[in-house]
Amino acid sequence: MNIAVMGYGTVGSGVVEIINKRGTKIVGKSSPCELSVKYILDLRDFPGDPNAGKFTKDFNKILNDESIKVVVETMGGVNPAFDFTSSALKAGKHVVTSNKELVAEKGLELLSIAKENNVNFLFEASVGGGIPIIRPLSVCLAANEVKSINGILNGTTNFILTKMISDNMSFEAALKIAQENGYAEKDPTADVEGHDACRKICILAALGFGNHVYPKNVHCEGITKIMLEDVAYASSYDSVIKLIGTAEKLEDGKLYIIVSPAVVKLSSQLSSVNDVFNAVLVDGDEVGEVVFYGKGAGKLPTASAVVADVIDCANHQDTRRLIGWENENPDIIADYKTIPNQYYIRLMVEDYTAVLPKLKNLFGNIHLLARSGAGTHEIAFITEKFTETDIRNKLSTLKGSDLKSLIRVANC
Ligand code: HSE
Repeated sequence: MNIAVMGYGTVGSGVVEIINKRGTKIVGKSSPCELSVKYILDLRDFPGDPNAGKFTKDFNKILNDESIKVVVETMGGVNPAFDFTSSALKAGKHVVTSNKELVAEKGLELLSIAKENNVNFLFEASVGGGIPIIRPLSVCLAANEVKSINGILNGTTNFILTKMISDNMSFEAALKIAQENGYAEKDPTADVEGHDACRKICILAALGFGNHVYPKNVHCEGITKIMLEDVAYASSYDSVIKLIGTAEKLEDGKLYIIVSPAVVKLSSQLSSVNDVFNAVLVDGDEVGEVVFYGKGAGKLPTASAVVADVIDCANHQDTRRLIGWENENPDIIADYKTIPNQYYIRLMVEDYTAVLPKLKNLFGNIHLLARSGAGTHEIAFITEKFTETDIRNKLSTLKGSDLKSLIRVANC
């Protein structure tokens, strides 16, 4: 079976490499299909590449070639990926993508176009890189009502935080290594500001809770304000700081969905997920907690998930996979500022001794934290459960203090 790969970057080149390496064997004896990459669409030139002869800059060549049954979209971004994907689906070709932005922004539309044209739009690689999570969540856990999904969903930021925690490495140095390893997005702002993780939790929320969730409706904070001081305080609390995506069904039926750094206790299964690894912790009403773990970014791990989707299309060319969700319902998204949570707070204060009773007065029980070299003007503590609105209101009454960090404590 002929396929076309659109976008010959980190993931696309990995897809071609795996298919070239495994070729016919990969599909298995039960299938009459063989996989062969016929076209690689990319505007760049790749002199000396062993796939010379397959490159094209013309999408219509792929669209008009009836022998192309599956199109792989690994270009990234919404445009022109959306136009190419929708045209390919309308032309009766299955499309497989690793593009989380495309799925988070346009998934509803593309799934509907796929349905109308009786083809598949598959996106296992869009969340968690090589980790199987899309099918498990939508197929294997289908008997459950999902209570919550919590995940470390971005390899780049997890790599950076791990280096900061374990090696005391600076943010910039760790980001540089992540870029060299092909983990980071073209513009790493999407990683470090949490947008990439946000797209992924939106996709998981849609699968888990049934309605499309647009990233613009989700509160999202990145890791750029995390300091080594915060890492040290978290460590004194037997915790680590991780970028966590959360989607949780509340008692009133609303959805609490957020991406932010979180103080994660060492007893949590997510605390030991390090480097480029991702993990998704799903809590289902029947199954309890299940964790999906593996490499969340990088060429071959991500390509492995893409190629698996291609194989699925090859083996089920006339069958539709029933993966999907309903329209968005913005009314079900809860205001994150009104959800009570424990918080870690770090302040610079003029007078530690004078501020302490005021803090106790404002927050009741606080758990004071210590780190070596803190000096007498820094104070850090963990609160009991308050809403973010309450916390900020209380802190605004504290004169002569400067809020350095406000980080939620993870509930997973
Ligand atoms: N930049 C992404 C990450 C790539 O670091 O997780 C995988 O989606």
